[in-house]
Amino acid sequence: MNKLKVFVALMIVGFLGLQFISIAQTQDNLKGQMQMSQTNNQTKKLITMNQTNKFEFQPLPYAYDALEPSIDKLTVEIHYSKHHKAYYDNFINAIKGTEMESMDIKDIFRNIGKFPVAVRNNGGGYFNHTFYWEGMKASGGGLPTGKLSDAITKSFTSFDEFKKQFSDAGKTRFGSGWAWLSLDDKGKLFISSTPNQDNPLMDLAEKKGTPLLVMDVWEHAYYLKYQNKRPDYIDAFWNIVNWEEVTRRYETALKSLNIK
Ligand SMILES: [Fe+2]
Repeated sequence: MNKLKVFVALMIVGFLGLQFISIAQTQDNLKGQMQMSQTNNQTKKLITMNQTNKFEFQPLPYAYDALEPSIDKLTVEIHYSKHHKAYYDNFINAIKGTEMESMDIKDIFRNIGKFPVAVRNNGGGYFNHTFYWEGMKASGGGLPTGKLSDAITKSFTSFDEFKKQFSDAGKTRFGSGWAWLSLDDKGKLFISSTPNQDNPLMDLAEKKGTPLLVMDVWEHAYYLKYQNKRPDYIDAFWNIVNWEEVTRRYETALKSLNIK
């Protein structure tokens, strides 16, 4: 009788053991399948992002009120979420189904004369605004440092003289446009202004180069707070310039020209 009990007990233990191994194998298989599925989904997501989100509408790098009091919250909100967004949407529509969808935006600008004016206006509006937002920050201003400071002094005799010439480029731009500090292909700094949504990367620009700093002088950039007083907005702009970002752009531009 005792032998029978031991035999039955061993059978039950053996059966339960087999069940346990089987469940563990099933769980491993399921886990493996889930991991594969996740990997596939991630790959799919990356491919999808590369294909459809090549030109992204980047988030504003700070809160709407971050540039107060130089630029008020409502102006930043409308400027970014309405004006900038509209340029982005119209640019995406303008390049849909064309070779430009797979081009780098700088290559599009280098050939902008060949493309429809909607690409020039909206592609410029999309790029210029992103560049403008990233070139400002809360509690910015002050003075540039290092190599950029030396280059500004060398090119314009002093920072104050540079500031005056850049401000004048913004003040004297007739109608709507932008004031720029850029680097030419010889590694020299220059100031220019462009009408509408043009920029120095475009083949049609009067002065071509790599942009380092930009100021939007369209009325929508300042009218709510400053009304017709564009010079007051320009004076306030110097308090929010992100010189760290401008320096980073300058150093990147020098490297791409192989200048140390
Ligand atoms: Fe603008």
